Amino acid sequence: MSVRRLAAEQPQSFAFSAESEEKVQFWLKKYPEDRAASAVIPLLWLAQKQEGWVSEPAIRLIGERLGMPYIRVYEVATFYTMFNLTPVGEHLIQVCGTTPCWLRGADDLKAVCEKRIGKKGRENLSADGKFSWEEVECLGACANAPMVQIANKAGDYYYEDLTAEGLEKILDDLQAGKEIKQGPISGRHASEPTQSTVETLKDPSLYDGSRAKPITLPNSEPAKAEG
Ligand code: FES
Repeated sequence: MSVRRLAAEQPQSFAFSAESEEKVQFWLKKYPEDRAASAVIPLLWLAQKQEGWVSEPAIRLIGERLGMPYIRVYEVATFYTMFNLTPVGEHLIQVCGTTPCWLRGADDLKAVCEKRIGKKGRENLSADGKFSWEEVECLGACANAPMVQIANKAGDYYYEDLTAEGLEKILDDLQAGKEIKQGPISGRHASEPTQSTVETLKDPSLYDGSRAKPITLPNSEPAKAEG
């Protein structure tokens, strides 16, 4: 992992919006007052979701809110790569490049990002500021490879079973301000078999409890014989 430093250019100040503040209060109530520092990651995350990145004034404010030395908040923000220490595109495209995704076409997705957005690196914004992209390690959706995670103010969602064309379409839609549907773009619901003739795990009795054999727990009444 490369050295993570705060951006050279910083805003003058940071304040939580009313909407973020409500969530800040939720997190603060979860911990005893003398353990407020436990909320440091959620508060950093809220700052990031509000501004798109974590600035130095945000780090200072969070330190003050949680009674923590600034350096402790700084250590957390610079340690976890999920925190953006520089402004990123409105939509940060995180392309999984680990082996299962690579074998299934991650290089094609990276080529689309290079063509549409530019140089790899979350701090390298597209000309319109809408996008930046980076390569990440396995995001745990290997059964739906290849995939990307797209992080923006709406959340961090997975887009799976991708092709170069599929990703181009997602970028087009985001650029046009359209809503995009998360999950596999192949029509799969989750990670079930792609061949419609395979009926694996579709028998309802697998899930409705009817196959379960009655058991007698040590502290329960013996089961009554039927009939
Ligand atoms: S290898 Fe890409 S999600 Fe696991």
